[in-house]
Amino acid sequence: MSQLHLAAVYTREVAASLARIWEIVFDWEHLAHLHEGSFAKCTLIDRGAWGWRVALATAGRPEHPQVIELRADRPAGRYVSTTIEGTGAGTEIRVRLVPQSAHCTNVMIEFHVPEDRNDRLAVIGAAYTAAYRQLWDEDEAMMQTRERMLALRSVSVPAVPVDLGRESEVRSALPLAFDFGGQPFRVVDLDPAQHDGSVRRAINRPLLAVIPALVGA
Ligand SMILES: [Fe+2]
Repeated sequence: MSQLHLAAVYTREVAASLARIWEIVFDWEHLAHLHEGSFAKCTLIDRGAWGWRVALATAGRPEHPQVIELRADRPAGRYVSTTIEGTGAGTEIRVRLVPQSAHCTNVMIEFHVPEDRNDRLAVIGAAYTAAYRQLWDEDEAMMQTRERMLALRSVSVPAVPVDLGRESEVRSALPLAFDFGGQPFRVVDLDPAQHDGSVRRAINRPLLAVIPALVGA
């Protein structure tokens, strides 16, 4: 293998906790789903506490998968993604994670490639930086959604009445979306087939909700 050379360094702040980031780092399955614009198919070869190894086909070349291995050193806040086989074999993408706050992590990514010509290094580095900006944009959006959902689960809903208006008006507006305590809810008719004239009561965060105050309003 050719000697590795640093093609570029991409650094950014990611608005997600270190825990969310480790989840997505170990989640090899998300590659071909969340990043479907970049990857066509991802097949697991092996995995463990150390990381994972997959056959990964890029969106433009589905018939030529690379074998990629990710090895993590969680205590050190680092992981390395290595191209074992295929285009760019030998390439190491070295990542360092440094938490900045509860919901912000600094991510530094180094692209080490088996290329020694400076003009090619610059092109490869720019391509990797653009690709990883896109990947981390997608990861960040997904992690933020997950953090919001986890926060909703931990919220205890107080049993206080909420006046949404007359029942007939609410029924005509179903499914009615509203915010309560800073959280989103919807009022739905849970079981129209067995509807007996009263509104069934349920709180099923975050998507379904019929607040008790609705009854008799
Ligand atoms: Fe990702």
